[in-house]
Amino acid sequence: MERTLVLLKPDCLQRRLLGRMISRFEDKGLNLIALKMLWVTPELAKRHYVEHVEKPFYPGLEAFITSAPVVAIVIEGLEAIRVVREMLGATSGLKAVAGTIRGDYSSSRQMNLVHASDGPDAAIREIELYFSANEICSHQPAVAAWLRASDE
Ligand code: CMP
Repeated sequence: MERTLVLLKPDCLQRRLLGRMISRFEDKGLNLIALKMLWVTPELAKRHYVEHVEKPFYPGLEAFITSAPVVAIVIEGLEAIRVVREMLGATSGLKAVAGTIRGDYSSSRQMNLVHASDGPDAAIREIELYFSANEICSHQPAVAAWLRASDE
């Protein structure tokens, strides 16, 4: 099992898409094991997007990500990091393939609705940024036996 950090960004909340985004992950059979709404502060934005801080688009990204609350989610599942990234599609909604979240709902590079960790190291770092260990609600969903065979 892998864990990944998903952020439903301010455009998601403002456009009333939170429920539909959560449904996409639930419908896929992924397991939501932690969830909270919060305001990202400029300090948290700089820590989260540390690899982008020096890039020309960073000031706009920080203004956007701090402009309204976000919903942070820890998602667990087999190959969850890759599976969730593929569900999101390309960074730019204009380039994302139809059928992906961004392909279906976004036409922007910045306002691309959902963030997800891009690898195992990022997932650990980002989950720790948003959640303490006692906020992770590990559980075995009752439906698990109907999502995949026992040897998968
Ligand atoms: P995300 O997956 O959260 O990772 C970094 C974010 O920066 C990205 O989604 C976009 O919201 C934003 N971003 C990436 N590239 C650009 C860009 N060229 N211009 C503006 N915003 C960008």
